Amino acid sequence: MRAISRREVLAGTLALALATPARGDVEPSPAPALKTLAAQRGILYGSCAAYTQIAAEDDFTVLLARECGLIVPENEMKWAEMSPGAGLEDFRRPDQMVDFADAHGLHFRGHNMLWYWRTPSWFFELHDRKSSEQAILKRVDEMGRRYRGRIHSWDVVNEPLNPQDGRPDGLRKAVFLDAIGPDYLALAHHAARAADPAARLVVNEYDVEYDTPEQDDKRLASLHLIEAMKKAGTPVDAFGVQAHLSVDRLPFSARKLRRFLSEMADLEVAIQITELDVTDENAPAATSERDRLVADQYARFLEVALDEKAVKLLTCWGLSDRHSWIVRHETNDQKWRRDGLASRPLPFDDALMAKPAWAAIAEALKAAPPRDPG
Ligand code: G3I
Repeated sequence: MRAISRREVLAGTLALALATPARGDVEPSPAPALKTLAAQRGILYGSCAAYTQIAAEDDFTVLLARECGLIVPENEMKWAEMSPGAGLEDFRRPDQMVDFADAHGLHFRGHNMLWYWRTPSWFFELHDRKSSEQAILKRVDEMGRRYRGRIHSWDVVNEPLNPQDGRPDGLRKAVFLDAIGPDYLALAHHAARAADPAARLVVNEYDVEYDTPEQDDKRLASLHLIEAMKKAGTPVDAFGVQAHLSVDRLPFSARKLRRFLSEMADLEVAIQITELDVTDENAPAATSERDRLVADQYARFLEVALDEKAVKLLTCWGLSDRHSWIVRHETNDQKWRRDGLASRPLPFDDALMAKPAWAAIAEALKAAPPRDPG
Protein backbone atom coordinates (compact mmCIF):
# COMPACT_ATOMS: atom_id res chain seq x y z
CA MET A 1 0.00 0.00 0.00
CA ARG A 2 1.28 3.46 -0.92
CA ALA A 3 2.19 5.66 2.05
CA ILE A 4 0.21 8.86 2.29
CA SER A 5 2.50 11.81 1.88
CA ARG A 6 2.67 14.64 4.38
CA ARG A 7 1.36 16.94 1.65
CA GLU A 8 -1.72 14.76 1.12
CA VAL A 9 -2.38 14.64 4.84
CA LEU A 10 -2.17 18.43 5.03
CA ALA A 11 -4.42 18.81 2.00
CA GLY A 12 -6.98 16.46 3.52
CA THR A 13 -6.88 18.23 6.85
CA LEU A 14 -7.31 21.59 5.17
CA ALA A 15 -10.25 20.37 3.08
CA LEU A 16 -11.93 19.03 6.21
CA ALA A 17 -11.29 22.24 8.13
CA LEU A 18 -12.77 24.33 5.33
CA ALA A 19 -15.83 22.10 5.11
CA THR A 20 -16.56 21.91 8.83
CA PRO A 21 -15.25 24.86 10.80
CA ALA A 22 -15.03 23.70 14.41
CA ARG A 23 -15.40 26.00 17.37
CA GLY A 24 -11.97 26.66 18.85
CA ASP A 25 -10.14 26.33 15.53
CA VAL A 26 -8.65 29.29 13.77
CA GLU A 27 -8.67 29.11 10.02
CA PRO A 28 -7.79 31.51 7.28
CA SER A 29 -10.57 31.07 4.76
CA PRO A 30 -13.66 29.18 5.82
CA ALA A 31 -16.17 28.17 3.20
CA PRO A 32 -18.85 28.88 2.32
CA ALA A 33 -18.88 32.58 3.15
CA LEU A 34 -21.30 33.95 5.72
CA LYS A 35 -23.20 35.84 3.01
CA THR A 36 -23.80 32.56 1.21
CA LEU A 37 -25.01 30.73 4.31
CA ALA A 38 -27.25 33.69 5.12
CA ALA A 39 -28.67 33.94 1.60
CA GLN A 40 -29.58 30.23 1.75
CA ARG A 41 -31.94 31.20 4.60
CA GLY A 42 -33.26 34.40 2.98
CA ILE A 43 -31.07 36.60 5.19
CA LEU A 44 -28.75 39.37 4.02
CA TYR A 45 -25.41 39.31 5.89
CA GLY A 46 -23.13 42.31 6.13
CA SER A 47 -20.73 44.45 8.12
CA CYS A 48 -19.93 48.03 8.81
CA ALA A 49 -16.79 49.37 7.20
CA ALA A 50 -14.89 52.63 7.07
CA TYR A 51 -13.64 54.60 4.09
CA THR A 52 -10.03 54.37 5.27
CA GLN A 53 -10.32 50.57 5.29
CA ILE A 54 -11.68 50.17 1.79
CA ALA A 55 -9.28 52.79 0.45
CA ALA A 56 -6.07 51.32 1.83
CA GLU A 57 -6.41 47.73 2.99
CA ASP A 58 -6.60 45.36 0.05
CA ASP A 59 -6.56 42.22 2.20
CA PHE A 60 -9.49 43.49 4.22
CA THR A 61 -11.39 44.59 1.12
CA VAL A 62 -11.10 41.11 -0.38
CA LEU A 63 -12.45 39.59 2.82
CA LEU A 64 -15.26 42.13 3.04
CA ALA A 65 -16.47 41.42 -0.49
CA ARG A 66 -16.10 37.68 0.08
CA GLU A 67 -18.02 37.45 3.36
CA CYS A 68 -20.60 40.22 3.01
CA GLY A 69 -23.62 40.92 0.84
CA LEU A 70 -24.02 44.40 2.32
CA ILE A 71 -21.96 47.15 3.91
CA VAL A 72 -22.86 50.05 6.13
CA PRO A 73 -20.58 53.05 6.74
CA GLU A 74 -19.45 53.12 10.36
CA ASN A 75 -19.22 56.90 10.56
CA GLU A 76 -19.01 58.49 7.11
CA MET A 77 -22.72 59.29 6.65
CA LYS A 78 -23.28 60.74 10.10
CA TRP A 79 -24.44 64.32 9.84
CA ALA A 80 -21.75 65.71 12.16
CA GLU A 81 -19.04 63.99 10.10
CA MET A 82 -20.40 65.40 6.83
CA SER A 83 -21.36 68.93 7.77
CA PRO A 84 -18.71 71.37 8.95
CA GLY A 85 -21.13 74.32 8.93
CA ALA A 86 -24.73 75.35 8.26
CA GLY A 87 -25.69 74.49 4.69
CA LEU A 88 -22.34 72.76 4.04
CA GLU A 89 -22.22 69.06 3.28
CA ASP A 90 -19.24 67.01 2.16
CA PHE A 91 -20.49 64.02 0.21
CA ARG A 92 -17.12 62.72 -0.93
CA ARG A 93 -16.67 59.87 1.53
CA PRO A 94 -20.28 58.66 1.44
CA ASP A 95 -20.11 58.80 -2.38
CA GLN A 96 -16.93 56.72 -2.39
CA MET A 97 -18.45 54.13 -0.09
CA VAL A 98 -21.66 53.78 -2.10
CA ASP A 99 -19.57 53.54 -5.29
CA PHE A 100 -17.42 50.83 -3.66
CA ALA A 101 -20.54 48.86 -2.77
CA ASP A 102 -21.91 49.15 -6.30
CA ALA A 103 -18.57 48.14 -7.82
CA HIS A 104 -18.50 45.00 -5.66
CA GLY A 105 -22.18 44.12 -6.01
CA LEU A 106 -22.90 44.83 -2.33
CA HIS A 107 -26.12 46.19 -0.89
CA PHE A 108 -25.81 49.33 1.23
CA ARG A 109 -27.40 50.39 4.53
CA GLY A 110 -27.59 54.11 5.05
CA HIS A 111 -26.50 54.95 8.61
CA ASN A 112 -27.86 57.41 9.44
CA MET A 113 -29.93 60.43 8.47
CA LEU A 114 -30.44 61.80 12.00
CA TRP A 115 -28.81 60.89 15.30
CA TYR A 116 -29.03 63.16 18.33
CA TRP A 117 -25.45 62.31 19.29
CA ARG A 118 -23.79 63.10 15.95
CA THR A 119 -25.73 66.22 15.04
CA PRO A 120 -23.56 69.10 13.78
CA SER A 121 -22.92 71.85 16.30
CA TRP A 122 -24.47 74.53 14.07
CA PHE A 123 -27.87 72.80 14.33
CA PHE A 124 -27.94 73.48 18.08
CA GLU A 125 -27.66 77.19 17.36
CA LEU A 126 -30.87 77.33 15.31
CA HIS A 127 -33.33 79.09 17.54
CA ASP A 128 -36.72 78.70 15.91
CA ARG A 129 -38.73 75.65 15.06
CA LYS A 130 -39.05 76.59 11.39
CA SER A 131 -35.29 76.72 10.81
CA SER A 132 -34.80 73.39 12.60
CA GLU A 133 -37.55 71.80 10.53
CA GLN A 134 -36.07 73.12 7.31
CA ALA A 135 -32.62 71.87 8.24
CA ILE A 136 -33.96 68.39 9.04
CA LEU A 137 -35.98 68.25 5.83
CA LYS A 138 -32.98 69.38 3.76
CA ARG A 139 -30.73 66.78 5.36
CA VAL A 140 -33.20 63.91 4.84
CA ASP A 141 -34.13 64.96 1.33
CA GLU A 142 -30.51 65.40 0.21
CA MET A 143 -29.36 62.07 1.58
CA GLY A 144 -32.40 60.24 0.26
CA ARG A 145 -32.33 61.72 -3.23
CA ARG A 146 -28.56 61.64 -3.75
CA TYR A 147 -28.40 57.86 -3.22
CA ARG A 148 -31.92 57.10 -4.46
CA GLY A 149 -32.25 53.54 -5.71
CA ARG A 150 -28.85 52.51 -4.29
CA ILE A 151 -29.76 52.08 -0.62
CA HIS A 152 -31.19 48.88 0.82
CA SER A 153 -32.32 50.52 4.07
CA TRP A 154 -31.97 53.82 5.86
CA ASP A 155 -31.68 54.35 9.58
CA VAL A 156 -33.81 57.47 9.42
CA VAL A 157 -33.60 58.36 13.11
CA ASN A 158 -30.99 56.49 15.11
CA GLU A 159 -31.81 55.76 18.77
CA PRO A 160 -34.95 57.91 19.21
CA LEU A 161 -35.97 56.23 22.49
CA ASN A 162 -34.83 56.61 26.07
CA PRO A 163 -37.58 55.66 28.54
CA GLN A 164 -35.33 56.73 31.42
CA ASP A 165 -36.00 60.33 30.37
CA GLY A 166 -39.47 59.80 31.86
CA ARG A 167 -41.77 60.68 28.96
CA PRO A 168 -44.86 58.44 28.64
CA ASP A 169 -44.05 57.83 24.96
CA GLY A 170 -40.48 56.81 25.83
CA LEU A 171 -38.96 59.30 23.38
CA ARG A 172 -35.48 60.53 24.11
CA LYS A 173 -35.32 64.08 25.38
CA ALA A 174 -32.69 65.34 23.00
CA VAL A 175 -32.02 67.80 20.26
CA PHE A 176 -34.73 66.94 17.68
CA LEU A 177 -37.46 66.55 20.28
CA ASP A 178 -36.43 69.86 21.83
CA ALA A 179 -36.48 71.63 18.49
CA ILE A 180 -39.62 70.18 16.88
CA GLY A 181 -41.51 68.05 19.40
CA PRO A 182 -42.47 64.38 18.95
CA ASP A 183 -43.62 64.99 15.36
CA TYR A 184 -40.02 65.12 14.18
CA LEU A 185 -40.05 61.36 13.64
CA ALA A 186 -43.04 61.48 11.28
CA LEU A 187 -41.58 64.50 9.52
CA ALA A 188 -38.30 62.70 8.87
CA HIS A 189 -39.89 59.40 7.84
CA HIS A 190 -42.31 60.99 5.35
CA ALA A 191 -39.46 63.01 3.84
CA ALA A 192 -37.27 59.91 3.62
CA ARG A 193 -40.00 57.93 1.83
CA ALA A 194 -40.57 60.75 -0.65
CA ALA A 195 -36.84 61.08 -1.33
CA ASP A 196 -36.20 57.36 -1.96
CA PRO A 197 -39.41 55.30 -2.16
CA ALA A 198 -37.57 51.98 -2.57
CA ALA A 199 -35.36 52.22 0.52
CA ARG A 200 -36.58 50.41 3.63
CA LEU A 201 -37.01 52.87 6.48
CA VAL A 202 -35.68 51.66 9.82
CA VAL A 203 -35.95 52.74 13.46
CA ASN A 204 -32.61 51.59 14.91
CA GLU A 205 -32.28 51.00 18.67
CA TYR A 206 -29.88 49.58 21.25
CA ASP A 207 -30.44 47.93 24.64
CA VAL A 208 -33.35 45.71 23.69
CA GLU A 209 -31.44 42.42 23.96
CA TYR A 210 -30.92 41.74 27.67
CA ASP A 211 -33.07 40.98 30.68
CA THR A 212 -32.92 44.13 32.79
CA PRO A 213 -35.72 46.47 33.89
CA GLU A 214 -34.27 49.27 31.70
CA GLN A 215 -34.24 47.02 28.65
CA ASP A 216 -37.79 45.80 29.46
CA ASP A 217 -38.80 49.47 29.28
CA LYS A 218 -36.93 50.00 26.01
CA ARG A 219 -38.56 46.95 24.44
CA LEU A 220 -42.00 48.17 25.46
CA ALA A 221 -41.32 51.69 24.22
CA SER A 222 -40.04 50.27 20.92
CA LEU A 223 -43.23 48.29 20.39
CA HIS A 224 -45.37 51.30 21.29
CA LEU A 225 -43.42 53.56 18.95
CA ILE A 226 -43.71 51.25 15.95
CA GLU A 227 -47.38 50.64 16.68
CA ALA A 228 -48.05 54.39 16.92
CA MET A 229 -46.14 55.08 13.70
CA LYS A 230 -48.12 52.39 11.88
CA LYS A 231 -51.43 53.72 13.22
CA ALA A 232 -50.58 57.25 12.18
CA GLY A 233 -49.61 56.15 8.66
CA THR A 234 -45.96 57.09 9.17
CA PRO A 235 -43.87 55.04 6.74
CA VAL A 236 -41.68 52.52 8.61
CA ASP A 237 -40.50 49.19 7.22
CA ALA A 238 -38.19 47.70 9.82
CA PHE A 239 -37.04 47.83 13.41
CA GLY A 240 -33.27 47.64 13.91
CA VAL A 241 -31.88 45.72 16.90
CA GLN A 242 -28.31 46.94 17.28
CA ALA A 243 -27.17 44.03 19.47
CA HIS A 244 -23.96 45.30 21.05
CA LEU A 245 -23.52 42.29 23.33
CA SER A 246 -20.97 41.43 26.03
CA VAL A 247 -19.66 38.33 27.74
CA ASP A 248 -21.34 38.05 31.16
CA ARG A 249 -22.25 41.70 31.62
CA LEU A 250 -26.03 41.50 31.84
CA PRO A 251 -28.61 38.73 32.32
CA PHE A 252 -30.18 37.31 29.17
CA SER A 253 -33.65 35.85 28.73
CA ALA A 254 -34.23 33.89 25.53
CA ARG A 255 -37.95 33.94 26.33
CA LYS A 256 -38.12 37.74 26.57
CA LEU A 257 -36.07 38.30 23.43
CA ARG A 258 -38.14 35.77 21.50
CA ARG A 259 -41.40 37.37 22.64
CA PHE A 260 -40.18 40.88 21.79
CA LEU A 261 -39.16 39.89 18.27
CA SER A 262 -42.42 38.06 17.73
CA GLU A 263 -44.48 41.03 18.95
CA MET A 264 -42.48 43.34 16.72
CA ALA A 265 -43.10 41.02 13.76
CA ASP A 266 -46.83 41.11 14.55
CA LEU A 267 -46.72 44.86 13.88
CA GLU A 268 -45.85 43.97 10.29
CA VAL A 269 -42.37 45.37 10.16
CA ALA A 270 -39.24 43.46 9.25
CA ILE A 271 -36.51 43.14 11.86
CA GLN A 272 -32.86 43.85 11.17
CA ILE A 273 -29.96 42.92 13.45
CA THR A 274 -27.89 45.97 12.64
CA GLU A 275 -24.70 46.25 14.73
CA LEU A 276 -23.91 42.87 16.26
CA ASP A 277 -20.67 42.49 18.19
CA VAL A 278 -19.66 40.87 21.49
CA THR A 279 -17.22 42.56 23.83
CA ASP A 280 -15.06 40.51 26.20
CA GLU A 281 -14.26 42.91 29.06
CA ASN A 282 -15.36 40.35 31.64
CA ALA A 283 -13.66 37.35 30.07
CA PRO A 284 -10.33 35.88 31.23
CA ALA A 285 -7.16 36.87 29.38
CA ALA A 286 -6.42 33.57 27.63
CA THR A 287 -7.27 34.05 23.98
CA SER A 288 -8.81 30.64 23.39
CA GLU A 289 -11.09 30.96 26.40
CA ARG A 290 -12.10 34.49 25.47
CA ASP A 291 -12.85 33.48 21.90
CA ARG A 292 -14.95 30.59 23.13
CA LEU A 293 -16.97 32.80 25.46
CA VAL A 294 -17.51 35.43 22.78
CA ALA A 295 -18.61 32.73 20.34
CA ASP A 296 -21.04 31.36 22.94
CA GLN A 297 -22.68 34.78 23.19
CA TYR A 298 -23.05 34.99 19.42
CA ALA A 299 -24.57 31.51 19.42
CA ARG A 300 -26.98 32.18 22.30
CA PHE A 301 -28.27 35.44 20.82
CA LEU A 302 -28.49 34.26 17.22
CA GLU A 303 -30.23 31.01 18.09
CA VAL A 304 -33.18 33.10 19.27
CA ALA A 305 -32.92 36.05 16.89
CA LEU A 306 -32.61 34.06 13.66
CA ASP A 307 -35.44 31.76 14.68
CA GLU A 308 -37.78 34.73 14.10
CA LYS A 309 -38.57 34.76 10.39
CA ALA A 310 -39.16 38.52 10.37
CA VAL A 311 -35.39 38.90 10.83
CA LYS A 312 -34.21 39.52 7.28
CA LEU A 313 -30.83 41.11 7.79
CA LEU A 314 -27.80 40.50 9.99
CA THR A 315 -25.01 43.04 10.12
CA CYS A 316 -21.99 42.88 12.41
CA TRP A 317 -20.42 46.11 13.64
CA GLY A 318 -17.20 45.24 11.88
CA LEU A 319 -15.77 42.09 10.39
CA SER A 320 -12.30 41.98 11.90
CA ASP A 321 -10.92 42.85 15.36
CA ARG A 322 -8.46 45.03 13.45
CA HIS A 323 -11.18 47.68 13.17
CA SER A 324 -13.64 47.54 16.03
CA TRP A 325 -14.76 50.73 17.81
CA ILE A 326 -14.22 48.83 21.07
CA VAL A 327 -10.64 47.92 20.16
CA ARG A 328 -10.06 51.58 19.24
CA HIS A 329 -11.45 52.62 22.66
CA GLU A 330 -13.65 55.27 21.11
CA THR A 331 -16.75 55.31 23.28
CA ASN A 332 -18.45 53.26 26.03
CA ASP A 333 -15.53 52.68 28.40
CA GLN A 334 -17.59 50.11 30.37
CA LYS A 335 -16.80 47.73 27.53
CA TRP A 336 -13.02 48.20 27.45
CA ARG A 337 -10.71 45.57 28.90
CA ARG A 338 -8.78 46.80 31.92
CA ASP A 339 -5.75 44.54 31.43
CA GLY A 340 -4.44 46.30 28.33
CA LEU A 341 -5.24 43.38 26.02
CA ALA A 342 -7.08 44.22 22.84
CA SER A 343 -10.70 43.06 22.77
CA ARG A 344 -11.74 40.35 20.31
CA PRO A 345 -15.38 41.16 19.53
CA LEU A 346 -15.76 40.24 15.84
CA PRO A 347 -15.83 37.15 13.56
CA PHE A 348 -12.24 37.56 12.24
CA ASP A 349 -9.11 38.43 14.21
CA ASP A 350 -6.81 41.31 13.37
CA ALA A 351 -4.84 39.10 10.97
CA LEU A 352 -8.14 38.34 9.20
CA MET A 353 -8.25 34.73 10.42
CA ALA A 354 -11.70 33.34 11.18
CA LYS A 355 -12.40 32.92 14.88
CA PRO A 356 -14.83 30.71 16.78
CA ALA A 357 -17.25 33.65 16.52
CA TRP A 358 -17.27 33.12 12.75
CA ALA A 359 -18.17 29.47 13.23
CA ALA A 360 -20.91 30.38 15.73
CA ILE A 361 -22.49 32.76 13.22
CA ALA A 362 -22.15 30.17 10.46
CA GLU A 363 -23.78 27.47 12.58
CA ALA A 364 -26.62 29.79 13.62
CA LEU A 365 -27.30 30.68 9.99
CA LYS A 366 -27.32 27.00 9.02
CA ALA A 367 -29.80 26.24 11.81
CA ALA A 368 -32.11 29.18 11.02
CA PRO A 369 -35.43 28.43 9.34
CA PRO A 370 -35.64 29.61 5.74
CA ARG A 371 -37.68 32.75 5.08
CA ASP A 372 -38.67 35.04 2.25
CA PRO A 373 -35.96 37.66 1.83
CA GLY A 374 -37.08 41.09 2.98
O1 G3I B 1 -12.35 61.28 12.98
C1 G3I B 1 -11.66 61.56 14.22
C2 G3I B 1 -10.22 61.59 13.99
O2 G3I B 1 -9.92 62.67 13.13
C3 G3I B 1 -9.49 61.75 15.33
O3 G3I B 1 -8.11 61.63 15.14
C4 G3I B 1 -9.94 60.63 16.29
C5 G3I B 1 -9.32 60.81 17.67
O4 G3I B 1 -10.10 60.20 18.66
O5 G3I B 1 -11.32 60.70 16.42
C6 G3I B 1 -12.00 60.46 15.20
O6 G3I B 1 -13.36 60.44 15.36
C7 G3I B 1 -13.90 59.33 16.03
C8 G3I B 1 -14.81 58.58 15.04
O7 G3I B 1 -15.46 57.53 15.73
C9 G3I B 1 -14.04 57.99 13.86
O8 G3I B 1 -13.07 57.08 14.28
C10 G3I B 1 -14.71 59.81 17.21
O9 G3I B 1 -13.82 60.38 18.17
C11 G3I B 1 -15.48 58.69 17.82
O10 G3I B 1 -16.36 59.19 18.81
C12 G3I B 1 -16.29 57.96 16.77
O11 G3I B 1 -16.93 56.87 17.37
C13 G3I B 1 -17.95 56.24 16.62
C14 G3I B 1 -19.26 56.35 17.39
O12 G3I B 1 -20.27 55.58 16.76
C15 G3I B 1 -19.75 57.80 17.42
O13 G3I B 1 -20.05 58.26 16.14
C16 G3I B 1 -17.56 54.77 16.41
O14 G3I B 1 -16.47 54.69 15.50
C17 G3I B 1 -18.72 54.00 15.85
O15 G3I B 1 -18.42 52.62 15.84
C18 G3I B 1 -19.96 54.22 16.71
O16 G3I B 1 -21.02 53.51 16.12
C19 G3I B 1 -22.27 53.57 16.84
C20 G3I B 1 -23.38 53.57 15.78
O17 G3I B 1 -23.17 54.63 14.88
C21 G3I B 1 -24.76 53.67 16.46
N1 G3I B 1 -24.92 52.63 17.45
C22 G3I B 1 -23.87 52.52 18.46
C23 G3I B 1 -22.51 52.37 17.78
C24 G3I B 1 -21.42 52.21 18.82
O18 G3I B 1 -21.33 53.36 19.60
